[in-house]
Amino acid sequence: MTEKNHTKKLDALKRVDIFMSSTTDLEELLKQIMEASQDVTNAEASSLALYDEIAGDLYFEIALGEKGSEIKASRISLGDGIMGTAASSGKSIIVANAYEDTHFAKWADQKTGFKTRSILAVPMIRRGRLIGVIETLNRRDQKSFDEEDKSILELLAHQAGIAIENARLYTDNLRKERLASLGQGVSGAAHCIKNVINILSMGQAAVELGLEQNNIDLVEKSWGHLKLGVDRVTDLVMDMLAFSKDRTPELQPIGLNSLTSEIIMMVTNGLDEKGITLIAELHKGIIKINADSSGLNRCIMNLVSNASDAIGNNGGTITVQTRIIEHINMAEITIKDTGPGIPPESLSKIFEIFYSTKGAAGTGIGLALTKKIIEEQTGTISVDSEPGKGTAFTIQLPLLD
Ligand SMILES: Nc1ncnc2c1ncn2[C@@H]1O[C@H](COP(=O)(O)OP(=O)(O)O)[C@@H](O)[C@H]1O
Ligand SMILES: [Mg+2]
Repeated sequence: MTEKNHTKKLDALKRVDIFMSSTTDLEELLKQIMEASQDVTNAEASSLALYDEIAGDLYFEIALGEKGSEIKASRISLGDGIMGTAASSGKSIIVANAYEDTHFAKWADQKTGFKTRSILAVPMIRRGRLIGVIETLNRRDQKSFDEEDKSILELLAHQAGIAIENARLYTDNLRKERLASLGQGVSGAAHCIKNVINILSMGQAAVELGLEQNNIDLVEKSWGHLKLGVDRVTDLVMDMLAFSKDRTPELQPIGLNSLTSEIIMMVTNGLDEKGITLIAELHKGIIKINADSSGLNRCIMNLVSNASDAIGNNGGTITVQTRIIEHINMAEITIKDTGPGIPPESLSKIFEIFYSTKGAAGTGIGLALTKKIIEEQTGTISVDSEPGKGTAFTIQLPLLD
C-alpha cells in the first residue's frame, strides 16, 4: 500500500470517528459510514442492509452509487446471494468475479441494470446478534477486493454496528421513559379527579337530603358545592389539555406593565379579603415584549394564586416586580411572597405535573403548565425560596426591540 493510500484510509476512519461522537442522527451517520466504506475500498457502489428480527430477512437501509435508489425497496432472505450468505454465516466474503460465483444472485443486477463484477460483504454483529451487512461493489481499478479492504471494512462495520445499537438503545429508553411518565400522569390525574368526585358526591348527598327534608336552604348550599366541583373538573380538564398539547404560541407585541396592572386590578380585592397586601413595583417606562398575552396572563395568575395559597390566612405580602435586564435584552417579572417557603427537597419537584402538597385543594398542574407556556415563548422561569422567609418566582422573556 502506498503512503498516500494509507493516509487516505486513516482519514476516512477518523472522519467517521469524529462524526460518530458529534451526531445523533443515525441515518446521516450510516450514510457517512457507507461513503467512507466506498471511499476506502475504492468501490463504485455500496449498501447497508439491516436485519429485521421479526421478518427474519434483510432490508436495504442505505444504498449508494448510481443505481442505489432502485435497489432500496428490495428485501433479501438469509442465505440468499452474497449479502444473505454473509449474514447467515456471520463471515466476511470476497468475491472476485460475481458471475462465476454460485452464491451470487443476479436479480439485483437485472432489476437495476448495474453490472456487478467484484463484491466485498461484511456482516455487522453485536454481542453475538446479527445487525446487518455492509457491502461494497466493483473496485474501481478492476481488481478484486483484497484482505486489506476486508479488514478496513470490518472496522467500519464494527463502528456502524455500535452506532445502530446505540440508537436502538436510545429509542428503547425514550419509549420506557414516556411510558413511565404516562403512568405517572394517569395516576396523578386520577388522584385529582378523585378529589373532585369527593366534592361532587358530598354535594349530591346533601342535595338529596335537602330534597327529602324539603330543606331548601340545604339544597341551595349544597348546590354551591356541586357548582364548585364542576368548575374544578372543567379547570382541571382545560389545564390538562393545555399541558398535553404541543402548540406554537400566538405572539404579539404587548406591554408587560399594562398586562401586569390588569392582573393586579383583578386580584387585589380578593387578596385584601384574605388579609394579603399586594405591592406593585413596576419598571418606570414601557416594557415591550413579543408574547402570548392570554398564556402569560394565565402564568402570572397561577404564580399569584400559589403565593396567596402559601401565605394562607396568616397575613402577608405579595410583591410583583417588573424590570428590564438590559445586558441580556430580557424583560423580567418576579412574584414574591412572604409565605413559608419551599423545603429544599421539594424544589426540584414543583415543576413536575401533578406534584402538589395541597391535597384536595391542589392539582399540581399550575407550575408545570406555567413552565410549558413560558418555554414555548422562548422564556425561562426560575424559583428562589428560603424556608421561613418566602418564595420568589421569576419569569424572563425576550424584549421586543
Ligand atoms: N409560592 C409558593 N410557596 C410555597 N410553595 C409553593 C409556591 N408555589 C408553589 N409551591 C409548591 O409547588 C407545588 C406545585 O404548585 P402547582 O403546580 O401550582 O400546583 P398546586 O398549586 O395545584 O399544588 C405546590 O403544591 C406547593 O407545594
Ligand atoms: Mg397552583
